[in-house]
Amino acid sequence: MIKQLTASAIVALGLATGAAQAAGAGGEVHDTAFSFEGPFGKFDKEQLRRGLKVYTEVCSACHGLRYVPLRTLSDKGGPEYTEDEVRAYAAENFTIYDPELDDDRARTPADFFPTVSGEGMGPDLSLMAKARAGFHGPAGTGINQLVKGMGGAEYIASFLTAFNGKEQEVAGQYLNGNDVFPGGWTSMPPQLEDGSVDYDDGHNNSAHHLAEDVSAFLMWTAEPKMMARKQAGFISVLMLVLLTSLLYLTNKKLWAPHKGKKFDA
Ligand code: HEC
Repeated sequence: MIKQLTASAIVALGLATGAAQAAGAGGEVHDTAFSFEGPFGKFDKEQLRRGLKVYTEVCSACHGLRYVPLRTLSDKGGPEYTEDEVRAYAAENFTIYDPELDDDRARTPADFFPTVSGEGMGPDLSLMAKARAGFHGPAGTGINQLVKGMGGAEYIASFLTAFNGKEQEVAGQYLNGNDVFPGGWTSMPPQLEDGSVDYDDGHNNSAHHLAEDVSAFLMWTAEPKMMARKQAGFISVLMLVLLTSLLYLTNKKLWAPHKGKKFDA
């Protein structure tokens, strides 16, 4: 009986999930097994480095990362570049206006990534991976998020590869068809093609991989301390389990002398 009940519950859940996905806005956000998922997940240093390269060569033309200090590129748990490498990267790629010099100078690790603003520019991406959710429902229960995670990085990866080639002009603005973007039309032009960025480590650079790598990098910019958070959470749960068992035993011991006693009313 219990077996049957469980089986039908699982089938019902499966149907509900499937139905909710089918009801999604045209395109689908693909579930990706990112290395940082799950209670023990960790950022993959090499993937973060590749993602930084995609960001620098492609996305930084239109998107800033203004809440991310350049020095954090050498933090443990991140891309883990050496301080010299970060200094070189900052100086090579970004300048900043310095009021003391009354001129532009190269950025240093003490500066942040640039803010990019202006017409046709995209929103700041520092926190984008936490500001978007890839999975919803079914029926407002959030079960998909419980099973697959919030899916911010998955949303970005799917968005980047969901351009369908359609274009239209609305009130002087060019819009590109995108199966994942809410509403189906975005002002961002398609960016990633197979091989648009060459990786130093010879890793697969199909559009799909470029999108995943830059999404993992954006998850790191949005939550650079994720690993420390998971570790602290795990230790707290362990402590709570220990405390609960001690309290349970204490409770047993305290009441043991009185168990089974008969009281006269
Ligand atoms: C030519 C300029 C340009 C480039 C290059 C560019 N974007 Fe965008 N991006 C935009 C614009 C404009 C928007 C705003 C789109 C909108 O709201 O319709 C945007 C929006 C976004 C969004 C938000 C989508 C949402 O759900 O609101 C993400 C994520 C994003 N871009 C990621 C990237 C990544 C990653 C790259 C590099 C691979 C990149 N973009 C390269 C112009 C650009």
